Amino acid sequence: MTATKLPVPGRRARRLVTRDEAVMSPSYTRSYPFVMDHGLGCLVWDVDGNQFIDFTSGIAVVSTGHGHPEVVQAIKDQAEKFIHMSGTDFYYQVQIELAEKLNRLVPGNYPKQVFFTNSGTESVEAAFKLARYSTGCSRMIAFIGAFHGRSMGALSLTASKYVQRAGFSPLVPGVTHVPYGYCYRCAYNQTYPACDVYCVKYIEDTLFRRLVSPEEVAAVFVEPIQGEGGYVVPPPLYHQRLRELTDKYDILLVDDEIQAGMGRTGKMFAIEHWGIVPEIVTIAKGIASGMPLGAMVASKRQMTWHPGSHGNTFGGNPVSCAAAVATLRLIEGGFMRNAEVMGERFMEQLKKMQSRHKSMGDVRGLGLMVATELVQDKDTKEPAVDLRETVVQKCFEKGLLVLACGMSAIRFIPPLNIGADLVDEGLRIFEAALTEAEAGK
Ligand SMILES: Cc1ncc(COP(=O)(O)O)c(C=O)c1O
Repeated sequence: MTATKLPVPGRRARRLVTRDEAVMSPSYTRSYPFVMDHGLGCLVWDVDGNQFIDFTSGIAVVSTGHGHPEVVQAIKDQAEKFIHMSGTDFYYQVQIELAEKLNRLVPGNYPKQVFFTNSGTESVEAAFKLARYSTGCSRMIAFIGAFHGRSMGALSLTASKYVQRAGFSPLVPGVTHVPYGYCYRCAYNQTYPACDVYCVKYIEDTLFRRLVSPEEVAAVFVEPIQGEGGYVVPPPLYHQRLRELTDKYDILLVDDEIQAGMGRTGKMFAIEHWGIVPEIVTIAKGIASGMPLGAMVASKRQMTWHPGSHGNTFGGNPVSCAAAVATLRLIEGGFMRNAEVMGERFMEQLKKMQSRHKSMGDVRGLGLMVATELVQDKDTKEPAVDLRETVVQKCFEKGLLVLACGMSAIRFIPPLNIGADLVDEGLRIFEAALTEAEAGK
């Protein structure tokens, strides 16, 4: 395979970055200057002709790889028929078909209904509003480390990085954050399973007794695996205990599958690994292979809101829906199984790598949602933030795109149809970058 034509960024990329800096909002978080020209499958090329392996999928979005012919054909066919008609005011078949499909796929053997959006934050915003509307309660519980989006309601649930909230107060009131089931860095300094899932018990024993009346709580918002927070996989009994708690107090459980869902973990929705049925599921990212689309799927019982109470102009765009139907066909037709198999390959190799590298504190994930957390010392677990930045940069220079997450983790989220050769080659580049960075080169 031809790797990058070093050094990067090349002349064209440098020029475009300069133009970008002049006209684009400075709030974006680019950590290296990859300027995309085109992509194919799990490979992408920059504007100077350099080739990279894509372990980012554009933040877990391009689930079927770049330019999958069946997705591209579905987009072309729909675009030739019509590009937009607004599902808020009119009807069209592809949107209905997709809603029927999602309702079948989302866990829960009861009737469901779909509200379509254009992004993750809008799906969460819709869930926030529906939870308030259908319960008549105003309060929400979310988790430290959570990322649910950046519009005001979703941002109020987000507690991943302080910079995401700073300067935007007051946020929507009524959200209380509690520690997530992050056993590698347990907030209560306990050990699973001896802790008896104390992080969930705390909600009942402390929060509900001293701070928040459970009768006022509309919903608990939870990511099945924390994404931006560091690819944190909670312990085996975590989601079950959370479900028992929310059932006991008649609180809605909102499962945010925006990053973990759509086959990425080897199941259509990550929560299925724990056998849990939520009342509301939020979806976006990987659903349409890169076309903007999101969805909020709720049990019909919860969909109590009336015409006019919520809507949008672009949600459920027909071209995006057509891309989603094709994407789901591919995910169900083998890509989800591939995510499971390739995920095991990642895990096996990363675990071996962990024994060779003093900075790989933790390796975790499910399917193709995998990460390693870098530390300065495996005993103190002090986050190796600078080292992480160096490794990400070096990967780029060597022809591999990766993204950071959490305080000091690096995530591996390639398209779901990646082959073994690119997994191995990408991990080889990652280890070379890590080795150099650890040696201070
Ligand atoms: C779990 C989760 N929820 C919500 C969002 C927000 O999605 P978007 O960036 O499409 O608004 C993200 C984005 O990373 C996410 O990972």
